[in-house]
This record gives sequence, C-alpha cells and structure tokens, in this order.
Amino acid sequence: MTQAMQGGRPSVETLKWVDEGLEMIDQRVLPARFDYVRYRSAAEVAEGIRVMVVRGAPAIGCAAAYGVALEALLLRSAGPTAFVSGLEGAFEVLAASRPTAVNLFWALQRMRAVWQAHQHRSQGEIAAILLAQAHEISAQDVRINRAMGAHGAALLADGARVLTHCNAGALATAGHGTALGVIRSAVEAGKRISVIADETRPFLQGARLTAWEMVQEGIPVTLITDNMAGHLMRCGEIDAVIVGTDRVAANGDVANKIGTYMVAVLAQRHGIPFYVACPLSTIDLTLAHGDAIPIEERAAAEVTGFRDCQWAAQGVKVRNPAFDVTPAELVTALITEKGVVRKPNRENITRLFEA
Ligand code: MRU
Repeated sequence: MTQAMQGGRPSVETLKWVDEGLEMIDQRVLPARFDYVRYRSAAEVAEGIRVMVVRGAPAIGCAAAYGVALEALLLRSAGPTAFVSGLEGAFEVLAASRPTAVNLFWALQRMRAVWQAHQHRSQGEIAAILLAQAHEISAQDVRINRAMGAHGAALLADGARVLTHCNAGALATAGHGTALGVIRSAVEAGKRISVIADETRPFLQGARLTAWEMVQEGIPVTLITDNMAGHLMRCGEIDAVIVGTDRVAANGDVANKIGTYMVAVLAQRHGIPFYVACPLSTIDLTLAHGDAIPIEERAAAEVTGFRDCQWAAQGVKVRNPAFDVTPAELVTALITEKGVVRKPNRENITRLFEA
C-alpha cells in the first residue's frame, strides 16, 4: 500500500464513507494489523476518538464532522423535537471526546453553522447537507495539506535529514499529512529527504505510524527512541525538525504531542531549525498564550505498560500528559496553507486571518 494518489484519492484512507457509515483505520493496532472499524452514530465516533482509533488533530476534526452527519441521518425520520435534541446531544458527546486538538471544535462549529443556516429545510435535507459538509471538510483538509506541503518543501535542502515527533502524516489527516505532508511534497519535488522518527512514548505514534507510512512509500526512515534525539543532533545527524500541532495560541505557542517541547529546546541548543506544520484550523485566536491550552491527561496504563505487558510496579503513581507546549520563541517558522510565518507572534499570526 502506498500513499500515492489513485484517481484523485489518497490510497491510505484514514476515514472513508461507505454505505451510510463511517469507516476509520484502527490506529491502535497498526502496523501489526490493518483494519477498518465501522461507525454508525455520533456516540460511537466520539468513543473512537477517545480511545484513539482515529487520532491526529485534523483527522479528529474530520471524524467529528462525520459523527454529526451520522446522527442527523439516524434522526432524519424522528419528530422535530427529538431531531434537535438528538443533534445537540451529538455535538455534546463529540466535544467531550478529547480536549486538546482545536480542530475538533473548529469542525463542530462549522457543522453547527451549516445546520443553523439550513434550519428551515426538511430533516432529510439537513442530514444530506451536513453529510456534504463533512465530505467537504475532509476534501479541504487534503487540499490544505498539499498547499502546506508546497510551502514547506521549499524550506528543505536536497539531502536533508529531518527529525519528526509523533505522527503528523496521512493517518493524522484526511490525506497527505501536515509535517509528513511537507516531507512528501519535498520528495515529490525530487529532493532526497530522509526521516528520523522519534518513537513517541507512550502511545508510540512514531514507531507504529510514522515509520509505517514512510516504509510503505519507500521514503528512507530511521527509528529512534525519544531519548536519542539530543545525541543525534550533537553528532550533526539532523538538519531540520518538522512537527505537527494540535493547537497554536494567538501568540504562536504550540501544543503538540508530549516530548515536542524537549525536541524544540534541543533544536535551539544545536542551531537546528524547528518547523511546525500548522493549518489555520489549528490556530486558536481565542487563547492569548499556550498556558491556556487544555492538556489532556490520559490513563496511567499507557505509561506502566503496553497492551498485555505491564512493566511498572503495580500501584505506582503516574503522570501521563498527552501534550506539551513549546513557546513561540523556540519555533523557527509555522508552515501554513497561506505560506511560511517566520518567528511567529501575535501580529504575524493575526495577519494570516485577514483577507
Ligand atoms: O494523541 P495524538 O496521536 O492525537 O496526537 C497527535 C499529535 O500530536 C500530532 O502531532 C498533531 O495532532 C498534528 S497531526 C497533523
């Protein structure tokens, strides 16, 4: 399987709409198994987001949009009161699934705006319009990733060795990826890029997902554990860092997978550019700075072991924040669909949203 486009659609389809249902690749079991899980209601999709069948900020947003559409389809023959309260319940359960990635709330807001604009229509029509909007959010995500890819590819020299953390690839989006999208676009442009993938404890998105995506495509990739990045930087084996993000505050502070902050500090110490691939849907202008970004705390079991194997002492106290915040001053540039924003700050970020 490759990520090459087939008939205009990416061949790794993180989410797909099949027979009035949403199917999502089960990212908990990759790469050992490649399975799709089928979803028929908003509550099911919310659970899929919570347990991380689907993950990655843009993909979570797309899934939530489909969750709303699924619920509207389920309720299309219900009475008007049941339709409205059922749909409100769908928004509520989806919004409660994961707190950090703002794309979730961005997508829900878009779905709500479409619902409001078409309230005078029949329930069947509203359901069809909401489904069309979910399809558009996904299609737009791929277009945005390709635009970011084109802008970001220009930043990478031929032969660059690029470190990435977590998975900001096709699996984290509707296709192409954000950070991995930049790498894909650079490769498509004829550059010889090699990737160093942090394994990304505790959920292992780097080892399981990023490495898998790169291997499928024949893009050279070397897997390291998270504590090896500093050593490789010191040995001169890394030319650039590119990561994705779950939420960027108005001042340019970046929330991303736990461990990103550590990489950014190391990159600055070694004079290595630290780039963040960031669609505008991931920027939250309502938050003045990164301290206001809600950081999800996940189950202790993710730290004390993996699947059936527990290696830590029973009952040990555990912290498991799933994200951290990298201050804007450590970010060389944000790569957006509207272009590259060097030294992000309140002024240049605000300008991105002006016509
Ligand atoms: O917990 P996850 O796997 O959802 O975290 C994902 C990340 O941190 C990604 O880097 C981020 O969502 C950007 S994905 C394009």
